[in-house]
Amino acid sequence: MSGKNVTEVVPAGPEGIAKAARILESGGLVAVPTETVYGLAARADSDEAVARIYAAKGRPDFNPLIVHVRGLEQAQRYAEFSLLARALAGVHWPGPLTLVLPRRADFGLAEAVTAGLPTIALRAPAHPAMRALLDAVDFPLAAPSANRSGFISPTCADHVLASLDGRIEMVLDGGATPAGVESTIVAVRADGSVEELRPGPIQLRTRGRGIEAGVEAPGQLASHYAPGKPVRLDADRAQPDEFLIGFGPVAGDVTLSARGDLDEAAARLYACLHEAARASQPRIAVAPVPEEGVGRAINDRLRRAAA
Ligand code: TXA
Ligand code: MG
Repeated sequence: MSGKNVTEVVPAGPEGIAKAARILESGGLVAVPTETVYGLAARADSDEAVARIYAAKGRPDFNPLIVHVRGLEQAQRYAEFSLLARALAGVHWPGPLTLVLPRRADFGLAEAVTAGLPTIALRAPAHPAMRALLDAVDFPLAAPSANRSGFISPTCADHVLASLDGRIEMVLDGGATPAGVESTIVAVRADGSVEELRPGPIQLRTRGRGIEAGVEAPGQLASHYAPGKPVRLDADRAQPDEFLIGFGPVAGDVTLSARGDLDEAAARLYACLHEAARASQPRIAVAPVPEEGVGRAINDRLRRAAA
């Protein structure tokens, strides 16, 4: 598709879901709501369709994709599930937990999905529209966040259009996404260890044996979620040329959460960054956010936005 093509925005009702399913069946790209952020979906079993994701996003080809499934039964066609992996899926699916597992030799999906790695990232999303869409098709959906590579992630249809308008066939509009930051990613190794590759809405760290904050996911580039302007963190007031994103007692031009609520802050993070990117001020400052619970994920994204 060239830049002059039209990206249709369709509400996530039954007709919209049926239309999205038809586009995906024919190898097209549809931005879809999940409980975390909007994903840029294509059928995961088609080399051509998956190649189009990388092209539309300008994504480096070494950065593998998450494969979205209905649940454990479908997921087991693509990966080897240890008992521990099955237990984690049992507790957290559908929901914002991505499991990185050894991929099955006969997994039958596009090679580019895993970028040549011996592992595959799988997640069963909880968003009702995404679940209805996965029920309507007979293949899993590869879906990275629906933004140009390196830019701010999208939590509403407008954010998707801001960087992908004309590059994809359709946006399935399910309104603002509730969690607001991308899924927690953990790798479950053959020796039974669990490594957190990306912090997110689900906290596994403090449980039982605890889990390591390990090697990062390959796509976790130091600079990411970039609003295109310098970002200063831990600010308690704005300099004259700064747009201030507040939190709790630090009031800003906008606030992540005036009452200091971390879930609200996660849900509003990318909308605030999009607004800061559009603002007239040439710089952005962000109030301190506590490094606890989903605050870890918020600070991880803010550090990359500032890098
Ligand atoms: O919440 C989410 O996870 C959203 C929604 C759409 O599901 N998706 C998302 O995708 O955040 P993306 O592509 O923006 O981030 C996926 C991350 C990347 O950092 C990628 O490197 C990592 O997952 N990843 C994918 N497959 C992997 C694998 N086999 N091993 C390690 N990391 C992997
Ligand atoms: Mg992303």
